[in-house]
Amino acid sequence: MRDTVESITILGGRGKSGQSDAVLRIDLRMGDVASIVGPTGSGKTTLISDVELFADANTPTGRRILLNGAPAPTEYRDDPARNPIALITQHTTFLCDLPVSEFLLTHARIRSGNPSGVHGLLQKTLGFANQLTGEPIPPSVRMTELSGGQTRALLIADAAVICDTPIVLLDEVENAGIHRARALELLREHRKIFVFVTHDPHIALLSDYRIVMRGGWISRLLHTDEEERRCALQVGRLDDMLSRLRDSLRRGERVRAEALEGCS
Ligand SMILES: Nc1ncnc2c1ncn2[C@@H]1O[C@H](COP(=O)(O)OP(=O)(O)O)[C@@H](O)[C@H]1O
Ligand SMILES: [Mg+2]
Repeated sequence: MRDTVESITILGGRGKSGQSDAVLRIDLRMGDVASIVGPTGSGKTTLISDVELFADANTPTGRRILLNGAPAPTEYRDDPARNPIALITQHTTFLCDLPVSEFLLTHARIRSGNPSGVHGLLQKTLGFANQLTGEPIPPSVRMTELSGGQTRALLIADAAVICDTPIVLLDEVENAGIHRARALELLREHRKIFVFVTHDPHIALLSDYRIVMRGGWISRLLHTDEEERRCALQVGRLDDMLSRLRDSLRRGERVRAEALEGCS
């Protein structure tokens, strides 16, 4: 049985050259979507791994992570069934050679207290994943044969549906060829705390707030304001236009000016 999670708190530490985090306390509440932004090497992955490790001033950053306002019980780190965090990392390779359906069913049997519900979970997970990737996932294909986009989509769906952890951390989803805005929309339907590392302007603006990294330290916390919410709609349209353009170039078509209408 997992305990109820209401909030996670990041208590500030220091950056690479000892600079103190400019924001000393960040409270992420159930239902919040947060982005971590910043240039390459600025400490985004490090911050996300502090959260995943429930850092307690025992990582190079000196940060501490609280769960419901208190240090996390140590068994959360040791018992995967109780750990409330799912982390989807940048680099994912499967050592497992099972067909997708076998993999998901095995995972569902381990995670679910209700053995008769596992086939339903399998269908739900595949349905979720297939909304995120342009290339539907055949249940009989082996895990090792999935493309990068299919793998990422399946892991996000697995975290949301089968693991059903209250906290999901995603490190840089962009290069994986999945529908990111759709992922965010679907994930918002499940009440969770989401933390995305992202370079994607649309995803950043759809988040409730952005944690800004620089030189390994947290330099700013920006709550998405009204003007940014309005911009997000426009950025979404630009994003859709660019994906259509990308698809058409991939199909070997010529680009016509109409394709860019409304964007000049
Ligand atoms: N607060 C910090 N203290 C010490 N080293 C850090 C800190 N933040 C980042 N680093 C180190 O800096 C390097 C880049 O950080 P990383 O988190 O991978 O950046 P990003 O994900 O933004 O590209 C890594 O080697 C990491 O260990
Ligand atoms: Mg990184």
